[in-house]
Amino acid sequence: MNIELIINLSYIVAAVLFIYGLKMLSSPATARNGNLLSSLGMLIAVVVTLFHHDIIDYKWIIIGIAVGSIIGAFVARMVAMTQMPEMVALFNGFGGIASLLVGWGAYHSVPNSETFTTTTIFLSVLIGGLTFSGSLIAFAKLSEIISGKPTLFTGQKIFNGLLLLAILVTGILYILNPAGQYNMFLVIIGLSLILGIMAVIPIGGADMPVVISLLNSYSGIAACAAGFVIQNNILIVSGSLVGASGIILTNIMCKAMNRSLANVLFSGFGSATISVKAAGEQGEVNPITSEDVYLLLEASSSVAFVPGYGLAVAQAQHVVRELGELLEENGCEVQYAIHPVAGRMPGHMNVLLAEADVSYDKLVEMDDINPNMPNIDVAVVIGANDVVNPAARTDESSPIYGMPIINVDYARTVIVLKRSMAAGFAGIQNSLFFNENTRMFFGDAKDSIQSVVSEFKSS
Ligand code: TAP
Repeated sequence: MNIELIINLSYIVAAVLFIYGLKMLSSPATARNGNLLSSLGMLIAVVVTLFHHDIIDYKWIIIGIAVGSIIGAFVARMVAMTQMPEMVALFNGFGGIASLLVGWGAYHSVPNSETFTTTTIFLSVLIGGLTFSGSLIAFAKLSEIISGKPTLFTGQKIFNGLLLLAILVTGILYILNPAGQYNMFLVIIGLSLILGIMAVIPIGGADMPVVISLLNSYSGIAACAAGFVIQNNILIVSGSLVGASGIILTNIMCKAMNRSLANVLFSGFGSATISVKAAGEQGEVNPITSEDVYLLLEASSSVAFVPGYGLAVAQAQHVVRELGELLEENGCEVQYAIHPVAGRMPGHMNVLLAEADVSYDKLVEMDDINPNMPNIDVAVVIGANDVVNPAARTDESSPIYGMPIINVDYARTVIVLKRSMAAGFAGIQNSLFFNENTRMFFGDAKDSIQSVVSEFKSS
């Protein structure tokens, strides 16, 4: 068997492992093993690629592996759970720049290549470049290095249209006549980088998770194009898988927010400051103390915790699990109701609760808990706002109208944990807070739950 055949057979094994791994990622119970399986696939792919006859010097590969591993291990240890979206943004950006560099390198090694190859070189540079710069902007917005507000200016659409046209024209000129076009090639690289910046600046910081998922998809498409450039089958397969799964995830997020992708990308959501109505305009809220929360929970036989972005901010997951266990010891049925876009990234709540060792079988999806909500004694809303806002059901003028929500207002009693009357991501008031069966438990979620746990322990 020649080495070429062994490499390609190993690539097929790696591709199968990627696909099974991806499938296993769709359930929390199998996700960890799915990740391991995909990593094994990647290890096989990398190791057999090192036997390829085109590799002429191992020195730089070894230096790259060493430097990359050190930085990767360091960053992975340093990054907090709440900074995961930023980290994924950087990963996508690095994927993009890698594809751009492959295309750039190929320009020099095959300057007179056929139209198909020059087209793939152009695509890997274009998509890789815009993924790189777009991801850096997404990273900067999420980490608040630059303002998270959408940047809008007059003539923006015309400018972007001209930019696209310039990329198309220079691209076609390069593809048709690649020899001696290095300056034009450099212009294409520059324009691609500008396109990435222009595509992401009009999008609000809180929509960045959707953008990151889209950029993830782009990084896959760029890798796929780079795979065609260097004719590497596993790069083509894995790039396509990343491209497809990124777009599927983007679609799931948009659906769960009841918004179209076009609305996320072009509407400048969050640019207008939507004024939060003063509390008095909606009525009075009913605050509650930790002692009363304890008494209420102690007498309950079914409790549903509904976590949101505030759970991540407060890092209250461990103390919530502790309260859940105390309630169960008290004979209460405890569930965790998970909204698909609670928090700021897909699976945000699942990740936090898994970190606190909350058993998967206690997590209930929105569609499953909603029919049962009238039978729940107490719904405890922990730092969630938009995902429990009844305006999504009732107020046609609301920006979140039509978004599926967790119907906590149908529970017998609702306790809402938050620090103030401030709005959530959508910037709108929540009528839930003013309902007769709602009690507001003000304060940092971790401190508030901790005080209830202390009440339980001292009783
Ligand atoms: P939000 O509507 O953003 O509300 C979070 C609430 O947490 C705030 O009202 C805040 O009120 C409270 N909070 C913050 N820090 C807190 C702390 N330390 N202790 C207690 N409370 C705290 O969150 P949500 O209900 O999870 O909804 C998510 C929103 O993000 C949705 O609109 C969704 O469409 C959007 N979004 C989600 C995603 C994904 S993939 N998850 C992607 C893009 C957009 P105070 O300031 O008064 O404490």
